[in-house]
Amino acid sequence: MTAPVAISLYVNGEHVDAHVQPRLNLADFLREHLRLTGTHVGCEHGVCGACTVRVDGEIVRACLMLAAQADAASVETIEGLSDSGEVSDLQNAFRERNALQCGYCTPGMLITAQDLLKREAEPSREQIREHLSGNYCRCTGYQAIVDAVETTARLRGGRKV
Ligand code: FES
Ligand code: FES
Repeated sequence: MTAPVAISLYVNGEHVDAHVQPRLNLADFLREHLRLTGTHVGCEHGVCGACTVRVDGEIVRACLMLAAQADAASVETIEGLSDSGEVSDLQNAFRERNALQCGYCTPGMLITAQDLLKREAEPSREQIREHLSGNYCRCTGYQAIVDAVETTARLRGGRKV
């Protein structure tokens, strides 16, 4: 058995100290050690985007990052973005536009969409599709998700939808 590694990081603004196995990935650390189960796990090899979180302000796939690599980092999950209200308008738009059904992809979609809207205030539908192209949804057919992101961008820009 490999010796655990000591890590110290911030998760959703709270300081966390932990001892983790060197091979434990960040998604499993968040879900199993911290009970932050909004970070979903689908493919576990970097394809589906269900595990998307923010690390030091950049979106990453938590299944592809070791928890030990998050030492000294600031990690934000969907729980943090939701509790702070940062994505409340996106969440409302997803509800109103029927952009979620089973909801499995939704946390990753919301974090990825918010990443786009922080970079690009009024993205085109093509830009939205491109930015979300690494997040898979088995239910919605994507159209409603693009609608929801586009609506949110317009509302943030003070425009009518
Ligand atoms: S679970 Fe990480 S990308 Fe699919
Ligand atoms: S809502 Fe079911 S996978 Fe997207």
